[in-house]
Amino acid sequence: MSEKIRKIGVLTSGGDAPGMNAAIRSVVRTCAYHEIECVGIYRGFEGLIEGDFKVLSARSVNNIIHTGGTMLKSARSKTFRTAEGRKAAHTHLKNAGIDALVLIGGDGTFTGGLVFNKEFNFPIIGIPGTIDNDIFGTNYTLGFDTALNTVVQVIDKIRDTASSHKRLFFVEVMGRDVGHLALNAGVGAGAEEILIPEEDLGLDRLLESLRRSKKSGKSSSIVVVAEGDKIGKNVFELKDYVNENLEEYDVRVSVLGHMQRGGSPSCFDRVLASRMGVKAVETLLEGKSNYMVGILNNVMALTPLEKAVKGETDINMELLRVSDIMTT
Ligand code: F6P
Repeated sequence: MSEKIRKIGVLTSGGDAPGMNAAIRSVVRTCAYHEIECVGIYRGFEGLIEGDFKVLSARSVNNIIHTGGTMLKSARSKTFRTAEGRKAAHTHLKNAGIDALVLIGGDGTFTGGLVFNKEFNFPIIGIPGTIDNDIFGTNYTLGFDTALNTVVQVIDKIRDTASSHKRLFFVEVMGRDVGHLALNAGVGAGAEEILIPEEDLGLDRLLESLRRSKKSGKSSSIVVVAEGDKIGKNVFELKDYVNENLEEYDVRVSVLGHMQRGGSPSCFDRVLASRMGVKAVETLLEGKSNYMVGILNNVMALTPLEKAVKGETDINMELLRVSDIMTT
């Protein structure tokens, strides 16, 4: 283990995700296990620039494994994009005697960390925390599983009213510009159609599919739409379009929004967070830097941060075929 690392800072940045607190807990407790200090940095890079730090002990993270959000808060920082901002951050880290950083967040967080590392050669490790599951180098990002379960539970509720009123619902889900949330939750919730950025279904095929569903005896339908979908109409415009072209449907819209980011993390996300926190700290203690901790085929893995940031995630084509078959 590297003797150089005596104090590790941890921060959360970007959109919050369920499981971030479990990851913070794991980082803090792994530091305590190795008898090194851990410092919590509040409000992401903004707090780093302002020196908003607090020493965290193993007891500081009691009773948070089951909580959503992030006890360290998060923020998107424009100032950290400036050299002055990053210099101020580095000064605060040195004054506090912090030797390395664990960054919990998404690709934007890692990009900022890489710029900082290049300027100051400051050791960093990334933990992928985002409900979008859009980060190369891991099968799962923290929060994805919890968000999936939230979305499926909500769609189950929407299905109750849709079937009671024989309605078609367009349900918009998050995911920024990828369709992993929409595809997996759509299959899990039994959606009749799933619109994702990675596959252009097209308006004609959508109408044809909805006509076919109606003819096959389906009296209500759920269409899950990824917020980054590229069909060319948002969910409200899709509602109007279907109302104009398919008289037999009474159409409504539900935009799930930020509720998908909240809630108590699932057991899967808690376990994943705990594993990632240990791997992140021990990777730093081995003297390594500029990696992202991930899970690949249920094994903890390290991916160079440059690749994690630049890489893209592919849609699961086998799952896409399953979703097509399920609309029979
Ligand atoms: O990246 C996570 C995410 O929830 C995306 O799915 C969504 O598009 C975005 O953040 C929303 O960002 P904000 O919280 O800044 O509105």
